[in-house]
Amino acid sequence: MLAKTTTSLDTHHDPNSTPEGTAKCYDDWSGTYDKEIMTQLSCTGPRECADALEKALDGSTRKEIRILDVAAGTGLVAERLVKKGFTNIDAVDGSQGMLDLAQKKQIYRRLICDFVGPNPLDIENDTYDAIACCAGFAAGHMKDDCLPELIRVVKRGELHFKISD
Ligand SMILES: C[S@@+](CC[C@H](N)C(=O)[O-])C[C@H]1O[C@@H](n2cnc3c(N)ncnc32)[C@H](O)[C@@H]1O
Repeated sequence: MLAKTTTSLDTHHDPNSTPEGTAKCYDDWSGTYDKEIMTQLSCTGPRECADALEKALDGSTRKEIRILDVAAGTGLVAERLVKKGFTNIDAVDGSQGMLDLAQKKQIYRRLICDFVGPNPLDIENDTYDAIACCAGFAAGHMKDDCLPELIRVVKRGELHFKISD
């Protein structure tokens, strides 16, 4: 039986939420997020996302690969990527509260607090070899209007895009 949680993913998937509203929800949830997602809800998304990226990047020199973790949250995907030897990872997320927890884990080189959508991110063209994104596309979260911006920041011919929910 699932242990009682104070929140759930469903309560954060409001299609009418503004980006600021969604960020506030995650700011409020951030303190208990890791425990609820991994222990109480037993989510496999972060592990599956990291495994899929490892498979897609098979044969590459792991320390040199630049990865952008999109909707990175507290860093559950990057924690697993670091264990696999990928150490050149940046994070972007709309919730400063989630990123503050990620920063404490010391797994990211750069943390960017911004909403991923059609607007330009503070990232140069063709910066990354790969993008990881776990549970970033959902109601009230990221939409397909962000895809041109994500494609802009990934190197040409190097697109490895794994979406996991
Ligand atoms: C369910 S959490 C997933 C976090 C992490 N990827 C994981 O697997 O644990 C969703 C994250 O997406 C972020 N988010 C939602 N919409 C966003 C947007 N438009 N731009 C950036 N981050 C967004 C939230 O702040 C939250 O941290």
